Parts: sequence; structure tokens; C-alpha cells
Amino acid sequence: MAEPLEEPLKELVERARQVRENAHAPYSQFRVGAALRTSSGKVYAGCNVENASYGATSCAERSAVAAMVAAGEREITAIAVFTDADPPGMPCGICRQVLLEFGRPGTEIVAASPRDLRRITLERLLPEPFTLNR
Ligand code: THU
Repeated sequence: MAEPLEEPLKELVERARQVRENAHAPYSQFRVGAALRTSSGKVYAGCNVENASYGATSCAERSAVAAMVAAGEREITAIAVFTDADPPGMPCGICRQVLLEFGRPGTEIVAASPRDLRRITLERLLPEPFTLNR
């Protein structure tokens, strides 16, 4: 087990755990909850939303990002992802790219499960990313 988290990150993990209860995952049975904090201090949450047309599935992280953007916010300081995986599941490749769009240097990623925690910064999670520099 990793070091105990600071209170603001603990709260994010708890929000991610709660929103996971609403996951719509009848195809994979793999339920994911995500909760992110923005630079204004607000928290936005999302769960995975699967579809009979599998490719139409939205990951929990991107559901949380959509809620943030719809509320008019743009800067993620931290995100927690809650699964039942061993080790706790990290954001998929597409979600990493989407988080990068709204992350800032030092944005923290916490992957949690009922048993364990992993913690990493966004720049370590997605090194050498694609950017639209012309
Ligand atoms: N999933 C997420 O919600 N986040 C990820 O980062 C990886 C995968 C979801 C998509 C799908 O509903 C289920 O987990 C299995 O892939």
C-alpha cells in the first residue's frame, strides 16, 4: 500500500468511488468512476457509459472532462480514477491524451481500488505527447 494521500486527493478518491456506482457497464462489467478537481477548486465526476455499439463507449475520465467543460472550466489539477482492478487501473491512452488537453504541469493522477493506490503525474503518464504545434 502506498503512502496515505493528502485530504484533497482523498476526497477525490471518495467521489470517484461513489460515482462508479452509477457506471453503465453491462458489456464489460468493468465499472470505472473518475473525479477531477479544477484550478477553481471545483470537483467534476463521471463514470463509464457503455453502449451496445461498443465503440460508442465513453470512459469515466472523459465523462468527467465533459462535465467540467460543460460547466465552463478548463484546467485540471488532479484526477482520481476508481476501479476494482489489481493493480488499480490507470487511464487508457485516449483518456491520457484528453487529460493532457486540460492538464497543467504537475497535474496529479491517482488510480485507486478498494485495496490499493497508485499515484503519478500527467507528464510521467504520457511522456512525449502529441501536440498541435505548427
Ligand atoms: N474504461 C474507462 O472508463 N477508463 C479507462 O481509462 C479505461 C477503460 C472503461 C471503458 C469500458 O467501459 C470498460 O472500462 C472496459 O474497457
